[in-house]
Amino acid sequence: MTQIFAHRGYSAAFAENTLKSFVEAEKVGADGLELDVQLTRDGEIVVIHDEKVDRTTNGHGFVKDFSYKDIRKLNANKKGTKKEPIPTLEEVFEWLSTNQLLCNIELKNALIPYNGLEEKVIALIRKFNLSRRIILSSFNHYSVVYSYRLAPDIETAPLFLEAIYMPWIYSQSIRAKGIHPKHTTIPNHIITTTMENGIAVRPYTVNREADLKRLFNLDCTAVITDYPEKAINIRKQYEKRA
Ligand code: G3P
Ligand code: CA
Repeated sequence: MTQIFAHRGYSAAFAENTLKSFVEAEKVGADGLELDVQLTRDGEIVVIHDEKVDRTTNGHGFVKDFSYKDIRKLNANKKGTKKEPIPTLEEVFEWLSTNQLLCNIELKNALIPYNGLEEKVIALIRKFNLSRRIILSSFNHYSVVYSYRLAPDIETAPLFLEAIYMPWIYSQSIRAKGIHPKHTTIPNHIITTTMENGIAVRPYTVNREADLKRLFNLDCTAVITDYPEKAINIRKQYEKRA
C-alpha cells in the first residue's frame, strides 16, 4: 500500500514545518512526514524550508545569519492566531520518539553549503535511535552520497526536479535506496521499472485527486503531499480493492 508522507507536515491546513503541522499530520493518520532542515549561525539544526525566514515568519534575513536564540523568537505561524516557533530537529525527534511515524529529512543545502549539516543530522538520528525510520534526501546529490558514506545504514534518496534517464541505475550507483522525483516528471512505466529494480519511489508534491489516484493505482512506494487527510481518504478505496 502506498505510504502517505505529509509534506512540511499537514501544510495545506497548518503552518508548514511547525510541530503543530507534524502533530496534525499524525492525527489524521499519515505514515510519515517530510521536513526541511538548515543550520543557524551557531550550528542549531532548525526546521524551515526557505533559506530566508521572510515568507514563513515575521522576521527578515537568512537562516544562516540568525543565532538560535534569535530565530526562536520568530513566529512561523504568521497567518494564524497562535504563535508557533521554528522547531529544532531535536524537538521533532523528541516527539517522533513517542510515535511510529517515518520521517523524510530534506537537507536544504543545494544553495547554501551548510558545513557539518550531514554530520549533525546523523548524530541526532543516532542519539534518538531513529535510523530505521529516517530517509535523508536532498537536491544536492553530493550531500546524498556524503550522507551515505557517513551512515550507510540510513536510507538516502536524491531529489529530482527533472526527469532523468534510467533513475534506478543512477540511484543504485550512488547507493540510494529511493528516488524522490517531482511527480509530473515521472511516467508510469519509469515508476514501475524503478520499483521492480528495488528502488523506492516517493514523488512530490502530489495534491490533486487524479494525481494521487495515478500513484495509488501503481502501488507507488509513497506520495509526498500537502493534503495527508485527503490522500488517506482516497487511498481507502484502494485498500478495499486489495
Ligand atoms: O521532498 C520533496 C519536496 O519537499 C522537495 O521540494 O521545494 O518542497 O522542498 P520542496
Ligand atoms: Ca522539502
